[in-house]
This record gives sequence, C-alpha cells and structure tokens, in this order.
Amino acid sequence: MHTEIKAADREGILAAAGVIRGGGLCAMPTETVYGLAANGLDPAAVREIYRVKGRPQDNPLILHIASLPELFPLVVIDPETEATVRLLAARFWPGPLTMVLPRSGLVPDVITAGGPTVAIRMPSHPAARALIAAAGVPIAAPSANLSGKPSPTTLRDVTDDLTGRIPLILDGGDAAVGVESTVIDLSRRPFDILRPGGISREALAAVLGEEVGDASAPADGKPPRSPGMKYRHYAPAAPLTGLVGRGEDSLRYLASLPHPEENAAVVFDECAERAAALGYRVLSYGAEADHDAHARLLFLTLRNADRTGAGRIYVQISPDRHGRGDAVFNRLSRSAGGDLIYLSAE
Ligand code: TXA
Ligand code: MG
Repeated sequence: MHTEIKAADREGILAAAGVIRGGGLCAMPTETVYGLAANGLDPAAVREIYRVKGRPQDNPLILHIASLPELFPLVVIDPETEATVRLLAARFWPGPLTMVLPRSGLVPDVITAGGPTVAIRMPSHPAARALIAAAGVPIAAPSANLSGKPSPTTLRDVTDDLTGRIPLILDGGDAAVGVESTVIDLSRRPFDILRPGGISREALAAVLGEEVGDASAPADGKPPRSPGMKYRHYAPAAPLTGLVGRGEDSLRYLASLPHPEENAAVVFDECAERAAALGYRVLSYGAEADHDAHARLLFLTLRNADRTGAGRIYVQISPDRHGRGDAVFNRLSRSAGGDLIYLSAE
C-alpha cells in the first residue's frame, strides 16, 4: 500500500477525515503520542487497527472526542459520576487524561474488547481535534506503533512502523507530552489509576478532593484491570536494563561493567560527558530532576538507542515518582521487562 504523508493543515485534515469516514486508517498527531486512527463506531475499521498493529484482541481501545457533549451518548452514568466527569473535564480536557466509564449500546464490542466500560479522551493537539470534528465521529486510536514497540512521538517513528501499512500519515510535529494519557477508572469507587501518564495522580486527587488509588501495578497473580498493562511493551529491540537511583550512583555502576563500547547508556544530561568518557554510546534525555523532559524524550531516545546498534541499553531512572516521574518509571520498567537494578532510594 502506498502511504501518503501530509502536513496537518486544512487540506491534510480534510483528506484524513475522508479516509476515516471511508472506513480506513490514518496516523494522527496528538500531544501525548501519535495515534492510529479509525472511525470508532465502525467495527470493521476498528478491527483493521488490531490487524495493522498486531495488537492482542483482548486489549480495548480509547475513543477520542473533540468536545464534552460528544461523551454523553457513549456512556451510561448517574448524576454523581456526571459531576465527576464535568469536574475532571473542566480541569484536564482537552489533554492527556482518559476516563473509563460504563459504556452505552452505541459503543461497538470491538472497542471495549467485550467489556462493560469504555475509555474516552479529548486530546489537545489542534490537528487531532480538527480531525475528530471533521470526521464527525468518535475516533478510536491506540498509539501508532507496531504492538510491543516504543510509542511513536515523531513523524519518523510513525513512518518507520507504518509506511506501507496505512494510506495516510498526518505530520503534526513532535509530541509535546511524550508519554500516553493517564487512564483513570471512574466506573467504580474508590477511583483508581489504571495507567500512569501525562496527568499525575497527585493532580487528580487534588481536583477530586479524594484519594485516587494506583491499580497500574496490581499485586502478583491478579490480572491488571487495564489489559494493556499485562504485556511486555514499549520495548526497544535490544534488551534494556533500568538503573534506578541518583545519577552519581548509576554512573558508578556503569563504570564497573565490562565492554561499555558495545552498549548504549541513556542518561541524565548531567551524566552524559562522564558516561561517554567510560566508552558508552550515550544518549541523554533531560536533566536529572526534569521529569517532563524525560517523558517527552523517553520513547524517541529508546528508538534512537536501538539505532546505534547497541547490544544492550542501560537507562538511568529517577527514583522520584512525582509528576510525570510515575509514568516514566512505569514505561521503563515495562520496557525492561522487569530488569531493574536499584542503586539508591529517593
Ligand atoms: O495518550 C494516549 O492515550 C494515546 C493517544 C493516541 O491518545 N493512546 C493510547 O492508546 O495510548 P493505547 O491503545 O495504546 O492504550 C490504551 C490503554 C491500554 O492500556 C488499554 O488497556 C486501556 O487504555 N483501556 C482502554 N479501554 C479500557 C477499558 N474500558 N478499561 C480499562 N482499560 C482500558
Ligand atoms: Mg500503546
């Protein structure tokens, strides 16, 4: 299949809306990561998303909307839940927050993987909003990577994964947030985070005026409530080892390893020169305390680390989980498949 790349200007948006309305797929920019978009009310189009990504069928999709009134036909909620939705939407939408709510009959089973709830988000990227509005339907969109790979945050990452597989990619520049939306389950009490992301659990608790639980890493043996969280994911091709601790401590550890020249080190800016002096193929992803930078650069840096041909990728991970630190920790521990070395506590 020939893949066209178009700027996300008026002409590009109209072309993409035509593809979506015709039952096809296109890649759309969002502020979190690029999404692989289809008409969320068209089961055949949604099934194509699973096929193109190689995504497991039991992992439900997020519906993207452009304005709050578009949410209500998709859900069945009581007045108290509606008040919660309005409160969160007023503060965090459009933006990187996804709400899980009891679904209505309008939502196809293929969106929810047959479950009783549906995940809904209003993205803030102007091209995503314009595309949803022009298509006139809720848009189903998982991250636009092949299943298992790091999510795409730049045009190049999308084209690497999807060229030849979909007719159209909209170029909306680099993603500003860089990690996916936070998924919060509002279908039961107490509210729980199912996936940490662009909006922190502290910020949600502050607006809700109550504790918000963390169900993203459930106790051993229990299946996660967000099915996507059970797969090895976000993984570069080379094996990845996470070094959790202060930069100084993980540098000392890196200095003790044999054959640095065969491996890549993804480090805090402050450690880049010293890691290079040790012989590693060095990539930096922001200052040690800058969680927003880590989030923005994380997936791109993992893809770039693979592009160096390294045999193994070591990544410095901050033990501080505030703000987007929680999402960064979550993604990296999953790309490491649990291979984390704890060098110092916070
Ligand atoms: O930022 C984002 O959310 C990006 C952009 C493109 O909007 N999208 C994204 O979609 O990350 P995806 O499909 O890669 O991840 C959706 C996550 C998965 O972990 C999935 O299991 C969970 O949301 N999810 C979707 N529907 C759910 C539901 N009804 N109940 C629980 N978890 C759900
Ligand atoms: Mg994904």
